[in-house]
Amino acid sequence: MAYQNPRVTEAAEILKKHFERLEHKADILKAVELKALFDELKTLPSEQRAAFGKEVNELRSELEQLVSNTQEQAEILPPIDVTAPFDVNVPQDLRPTTLLAEVGSQHPLMAELSRVLDIFYRMGFTAVESRELDDDYHMFSSLNFPQDHPARDDYDTFMTTQTDANNKQFIAPAHTSTMQNRVLKKYKDNLDKNTAIAVVIPGRVFRNEDLDARHEHTFYQLEGVYVDKGIHAGHLIATLKTFLQEFYGKDLEVKTQPFYFPFTEPSFEFALSCPFCDKKGCAICSYSGWVELLGCGLIHPNVLREAGIDPEAYTGFAWGGGIDRLVMMKYDIEDIRHFESGRLDFLRQFS
Ligand code: DAH
Repeated sequence: MAYQNPRVTEAAEILKKHFERLEHKADILKAVELKALFDELKTLPSEQRAAFGKEVNELRSELEQLVSNTQEQAEILPPIDVTAPFDVNVPQDLRPTTLLAEVGSQHPLMAELSRVLDIFYRMGFTAVESRELDDDYHMFSSLNFPQDHPARDDYDTFMTTQTDANNKQFIAPAHTSTMQNRVLKKYKDNLDKNTAIAVVIPGRVFRNEDLDARHEHTFYQLEGVYVDKGIHAGHLIATLKTFLQEFYGKDLEVKTQPFYFPFTEPSFEFALSCPFCDKKGCAICSYSGWVELLGCGLIHPNVLREAGIDPEAYTGFAWGGGIDRLVMMKYDIEDIRHFESGRLDFLRQFS
């Protein structure tokens, strides 16, 4: 739309560019450039006010139209069938499109992971990446899983046929806790210098799961480890609550329930008030008002001892939870399998 007044024309250009980049499209209606035009309107002599006011109102309607167009588009997007196989025999133009790397965009999980790490960085944590192949010692023994203990069966791991020096098969890590012993050893000198060990560990994990909308064989976890003098469960809860409020951008309630992990004592399951419905009950939280998010607890003395840290002098907390789950809740994504599907119609919604 063409405007007579150069200031409205200029603002319209800026606002439309800004609109393209906005994550929440409706925010354009709160933009300072638009507000400035309305403020200016009030200061104009009455003979100029009508013409200027008409154009400013037209600009606002134009922006409102843009916002409602994107909302309608989002509503009519057809659901994606993630289980549909890709048929290699169909003609080229009917196959799923692929893109050149140069025109690709960051995967939504990686974009959100940067936000997560950024929040923890500001809270004083260092990030260490986990690995994609590990051994029995780091997956189980260093984490206080006794030999042949049934808790090992809680993790349906993928293993190699090749074995390590202890004649144990290598394991595709089923959780990021495999890194606990390594980071505790790596940063244990911090404690002698009266500095806490504060590390977050993002990583890809693998489980031999039956796949459905909530279970994927490959997903991402974020582990956290914090050790210092006098650390207790209050520190754990405050840290996770602060992170989650920052991530979802709103006040949330949290609660813990007793649980069992061999590597923490006590162990908890950590739940937060549903960020979608504010505890009123909705499909995301299965109408309970709460979503269970992660496992956590106070690091077991045996785990600290195994890394050469005296559990009489120091205590700590740890947690581990799915990054996919956090992101699914943030964007109301209904099926975890979208993430690994490589489908452009899914990915383009985040580019
Ligand atoms: N590793 C656990 C899992 O994937 C989650 C977990 C629980 C991690 C408690 C922790 C923890 O660090 O302290 O099921």
